[in-house]
Amino acid sequence: MWSKLDPKRDIPALRRHLASYTLSNFLHGEQGALLATSQIVVAAPTPDAKFYAAAQVFDEARHVEAYDRYLREKLELVYPVSPYLKQLLDMILTDGRWDFKYLGMQVMLEGVALGAFGVIHSTTNEPLIKAITQSIMQDEARHVAFGVMALKDAYREMAANELRDREDFILVASRLLRDRFLSQEVWERLGLPQKECEEAAASSEGMRLFRKLLFSKIVPNVKRLGLLTPYVRKGFEELDVIEYESWEPSA
Ligand SMILES: [Fe+2]
Ligand SMILES: [Fe+2]
Repeated sequence: MWSKLDPKRDIPALRRHLASYTLSNFLHGEQGALLATSQIVVAAPTPDAKFYAAAQVFDEARHVEAYDRYLREKLELVYPVSPYLKQLLDMILTDGRWDFKYLGMQVMLEGVALGAFGVIHSTTNEPLIKAITQSIMQDEARHVAFGVMALKDAYREMAANELRDREDFILVASRLLRDRFLSQEVWERLGLPQKECEEAAASSEGMRLFRKLLFSKIVPNVKRLGLLTPYVRKGFEELDVIEYESWEPSA
């Protein structure tokens, strides 16, 4: 498929669309984070957690603004939200339990974002998106760390049936986050063979490595919270996302 593409016309277009698809979904994720963290201000159980969440609301508003301007003024192309990401954002925003907002937004979604930003930061040659990504990464690392702190003791004495809800949520969220990176809408819009492209995206060596890097910030935190149970571990293995179990993120 790749060798049939015209290097002057098709490949630059494909690159622009893939960049826009990736960054557009960061924009939509940031909008979700803006809403979710404003809900955390309401739902968090302690004043400290509320103050911190309020600061995070402002961070997320700046992130939305930065990605929005970059997409409109530089790439001049914005993709709608991936249905997989949308489903996860809806789950986080409509669940009334405060710990699901932390677990979904700070541990899962921001964990994956941190992994993806790290890959973009170390591979892009474009100085503006490199600088934007670096600034946002510093904020997100703080957000993830705070989420883990806020949840530290939440699961220690939880009843098994309540805990199973959290385990299932982690696995459903992981599947949605994995599928959100397969660029489905890009293949469709550029008229490329949908099924073959999705299969190639799902099974290529590069994407397998990328997936494991994405989850390298999630798995250790799930473990830290006491949620890397045999049930969750088996689910991670089936999703092919577990590799860096105790790797300490440096960002
Ligand atoms: Fe953010
Ligand atoms: Fe964030």
